[in-house]
Amino acid sequence: MIRQAIIPLAGLGTRLLPLTSVYAKELLPINGKVGLEYILDECIDAGIKEIIFIISKKKKLIKKYFYNDNFYKKIIKKKKDSRVINEYSKIKKYKKLIKFVYQNNPKGTGDAILKTKNLIKDKFFLILLPDDLIIKKNCSKKMISIHNRYKCSVMASMKVNRNTVKRWGIYSKKKNINRDNFYIKDVIEKPDVKSAPSNNAVIGRYILPKKIFTQLKKKQKGKGGEIHITDSIRQLIKQGEQFIGHGFNGKYLDCGTMHGYIKSSLEISKL
Ligand code: G1P
Repeated sequence: MIRQAIIPLAGLGTRLLPLTSVYAKELLPINGKVGLEYILDECIDAGIKEIIFIISKKKKLIKKYFYNDNFYKKIIKKKKDSRVINEYSKIKKYKKLIKFVYQNNPKGTGDAILKTKNLIKDKFFLILLPDDLIIKKNCSKKMISIHNRYKCSVMASMKVNRNTVKRWGIYSKKKNINRDNFYIKDVIEKPDVKSAPSNNAVIGRYILPKKIFTQLKKKQKGKGGEIHITDSIRQLIKQGEQFIGHGFNGKYLDCGTMHGYIKSSLEISKL
């Protein structure tokens, strides 16, 4: 059973400057709803019971967004606006699920995940990267059902343009299971076009085993001077741990770049 999810939120969001110079990118609205709420709703709908936010001192605004009870209470006391009451009860529902840990030096996703080590209770847990929105189908829910069937790690996959492989983690396939799923032979963080084993990219949904923490503890900086989760996953695969790549059916929206962020609002408004 997958009960816990981790959302790394300590990144600086430089690709979304100037918005992120004062604001947390995950709190930017996408078609009138905060981006992070789409991710939370995906978790809740997938049956997740606890969500661990990795934030930093610089991103305390995220905590404030969920812990602003007094502000809501004052407004509701003054006028009984049903919309505000609804929003408040929604925020309270989220708040009950969330725990916070801190990563004050942004040293990469691998380092961020390591900060949650003492909070993870089960053998497997879910990670969602908040820049990666997947709409129309709940990717996490589907991945959990695959995990329940095959009892192993599962990661989201999407075919990308060959010229863009340098931007992603890239899979090498071992064997197809069916049309949407395959066993992973290897995964490489941001390879050159020449050395990329495929154009199947890693998208930010991972079901990983608790034993990844042993690898993360040993990990040195990789590509771009960051500690990548991909490098520890690679190590586990080498040790014989089974990983499935899931080619999801939903629509992917890249909210981490200005172009993608603007496009995501347009796409969601069409739903
Ligand atoms: C991260 C991962 C990468 C993955 C990508 C998906 O990269 O390291 O393997 O393909 O997310 O969005 P980042 O976006 O942090 O550069």
